[in-house]
Amino acid sequence: MRVIAHRGASGYAPENTLKAFRLAVEMGAADHEFDVHRTRDGVLVVHHDFDLKRTAGSPARIAELAYPELAKLNAAAHFTADPAFQPVPRLDEVLDVIGPTARWLNFEVKNDGNVYPGIEREALACIAGRPGMLGRSLVSSFDHGTLERFRALSPEIRLAYLGHGLSTVLLAPAIRKARAVGAVNFHMALRLAFRTNVGLIKRAGFEVCIYTVNEKKDALRLREIGVDGIFSNYPDILEK
Ligand code: G3P
Ligand code: MG
Repeated sequence: MRVIAHRGASGYAPENTLKAFRLAVEMGAADHEFDVHRTRDGVLVVHHDFDLKRTAGSPARIAELAYPELAKLNAAAHFTADPAFQPVPRLDEVLDVIGPTARWLNFEVKNDGNVYPGIEREALACIAGRPGMLGRSLVSSFDHGTLERFRALSPEIRLAYLGHGLSTVLLAPAIRKARAVGAVNFHMALRLAFRTNVGLIKRAGFEVCIYTVNEKKDALRLREIGVDGIFSNYPDILEK
């Protein structure tokens, strides 16, 4: 079972900052997940939320800021154990840190309602521009239209269906949607990760990854029921 560093080693360092990604690499993480947005001036950046309220205490929205403005905000301000200044990193900076040793890179593209028109083409160009990266990359999004646009632009990019507002009864239709877009992976929340649900998805031919798993007992249970990967803020969760 893969342990995927979720937003870097974000249990130990401010999420989605270069500090968190460097730490994940130092801890030996080979599988990584990070969230992609775009600034007003067209720079792809890595941050979870669409705005900076929770992380930097600023209501500014990434889509409305030019990168030099965004880079002045402290994305580590929320992380009380280590609030020293860390900017929102550019995607290329993150890939420079994790790319050389990564086995698996999950670009989670945050594009609800197509707030970043054209981001699919730009993300694909970024992946294609790095030799050897396409085969290690997987794109996911909560926004199904985004997955469809990735598929239309690239028959080869590996996609993950990211379950949103799922329940057990909605699983079968979700599997059909995942299949229709040509996804190879199915990612869903821990609250749905029971043996029957996981079995159903695996029998449909998908690799199943579960978010967010920060307790060792959950990690061990998921491994036992055949889950393929867990997203964890603690890359060392199985060694704790
Ligand atoms: O990609 C898995 C997980 O990160 C999805 O949820 O909200 O943490 O981006 P979120
Ligand atoms: Mg994410």
